[in-house]
Amino acid sequence: MTTITPQVGAPHAAILGIGTYRPSRVIPNSEVIDAIDSSDEWIQQRSGIRQRRWATPEETVQMMSVAASRIALERAGVSAEQIDCVIVATVSHLLQTPAVATAIAHELGTNQAAAFDISAACAGFCHGVAMASDLIRGGSAGHILVIGVERLSDLTDVYDRGTAFIFADGAGAAVVGPSETPGIGPVVWGSDGEQFDLIRQREDWRDVVGTPEQPGSGQMPHLIMEGNPVFRWAVFTMAKVAQQALDRAGVSADDLDVFVPHQANMRIIDAMAKAMKLPEGVRIARDIAEQGNTSAASIPLALDRMIADGEAKSGDLALFIAFGAGLAYAAQVVLVP
Ligand code: UT7
Repeated sequence: MTTITPQVGAPHAAILGIGTYRPSRVIPNSEVIDAIDSSDEWIQQRSGIRQRRWATPEETVQMMSVAASRIALERAGVSAEQIDCVIVATVSHLLQTPAVATAIAHELGTNQAAAFDISAACAGFCHGVAMASDLIRGGSAGHILVIGVERLSDLTDVYDRGTAFIFADGAGAAVVGPSETPGIGPVVWGSDGEQFDLIRQREDWRDVVGTPEQPGSGQMPHLIMEGNPVFRWAVFTMAKVAQQALDRAGVSADDLDVFVPHQANMRIIDAMAKAMKLPEGVRIARDIAEQGNTSAASIPLALDRMIADGEAKSGDLALFIAFGAGLAYAAQVVLVP
């Protein structure tokens, strides 16, 4: 009988380098409060956000992704031709098809790398890292570029009190490649679709356009969020998921050097660290204060800032955990590149 030749991959995978792009427009709280009848004090107290960055028209999803990827490739010592696959996690590339990953792969100069987008909202980057690790170990690819990128300002209603001060723009990229030792732990991931409605676009494109008989809204399908239930879900549920990721990697909170949770809200970050009983020495990512919530881009942006500030260094043991619309979530232990 004919058998199919099995595919053999690398023994392990690791993140070899990361790069980021922060848009040039810095938006302090003072610039968003009037439209939502809020205050700098309220925003800082409830979310920890002092400022965020919103992209200029030139800072497109593709442009920010390419800029972040070039830095990641250089730091990893990997050329664009060595990239076999580009995975882009985003919910804010407004052209649904083709995947922006294909244009990014081309602009970077890959050799026609496989390229596709994934939609897992704020958890997208961690989903991408998990997939990259498995694709490399399964033999489907040698080196993979995982990009988390958002231009949430395009999908944010500046008059919506529940979201206008939170969402922001940026890009982070990671080169994932083969490794002699494990650099990416098992993923713990899942979704709670019963809570599908808590973070979503207000309407779909058919509602925007309408019909000749019943014209649509003509408005951008902005993001809406029931912040408080999401907040409570994140605080109560995500610490358990984080612990499972530690258990599955065979490490404990005491072994961690760095904790890099999705940058959704400073109070969620603090509550999770407390619930996980993180030892005092574990450095915690707090990029949200300066960057806002950049959904799929938040974890690589936060880790990159920690590396730049000397709070994380190569070889450190880090825990990623991300959660958001869906409600989708994913967590894994990784070694800092
Ligand atoms: O990235 C994807 C995952 N997303 C998240 O994890 C976000 C999770 N949620 C949150 O971060 C928080 O729920 C928010 C920061 C969005 C809101 O904080 P909160 O503590 O949950 O506030 P709340 O919605 O319970 O509102 C508290 C009060 C209300 O007034 P009363 O009823 O207590 O008098 C609101 O009307 O604050 C009022 N309020 C505001 N005040 C000033 C609501 N929005 C605003 C605002 N400015 N923008």
